[in-house]
Amino acid sequence: MNSNRRTVADSATRISQIMNPEHANLLGNVHGGVILKLCDECGGITAARHARRLAVTVAVDSMAFHEPVRVGQLLRLRGRITYIGRSSMEVEVIVEAEDLLTGGITHTNSAYYIFVALDDNGLPTEVPRLELTNEQERRRFDEGRERQRQRLERAGRQKEEAQ
Ligand SMILES: CC(C)(COP(=O)(O)OP(=O)(O)OC[C@H]1O[C@@H](n2cnc3c(N)ncnc32)[C@H](O)[C@@H]1OP(=O)(O)O)[C@@H](O)C(=O)NCCC(=O)NCCS
Repeated sequence: MNSNRRTVADSATRISQIMNPEHANLLGNVHGGVILKLCDECGGITAARHARRLAVTVAVDSMAFHEPVRVGQLLRLRGRITYIGRSSMEVEVIVEAEDLLTGGITHTNSAYYIFVALDDNGLPTEVPRLELTNEQERRRFDEGRERQRQRLERAGRQKEEAQ
């Protein structure tokens, strides 16, 4: 049993990156794949900070792009742990685009990424417990537990259908 405990704040992560022409499609909008990769990185850092272990992505909840991100904007990503199981961690990643000239901020998308911490042999390993410090964190944790229940149910069904 891993007796360490960490708070949500201990692993909370912020990263930002300016969007350059190399990130864009022919319309001048940033490719969805670029945003997905940054979300995965932000979530992965958050999970690794919580576990202090390498963590691999095992699932991503559906991702919707609410607003286009344009070249020249600063993409700002925030990751926070919402739920943990034994070896799995759910990280909510929130993405915003900042217009550097006006200071205007647009919420572009949010997603839940699930990571699994691996031991030195590449096997799932227990992560520190999550110390919940307020009512919001407790609510997010309960909601995350329900999402994870539904994910595993879906994954089980998909496995059966693929056989
Ligand atoms: C992650 C991986 C090691 C898990 O292996 P596994 O045999 O499913 O291991 P387990 O059954 O012990 O599951 C480990 C944890 O993952 C969770 N999990 C497994 N499949 C899941 C899914 N589809 N969605 C959400 N969680 C899932 C389990 O619930 C378990 O969580 P818990 O320990 O908190 O209870 C394996 O699936 C893997 O290597 N996947 C590829 C990862 C990868 O390459 N990612 C992309 C690059 S980083």
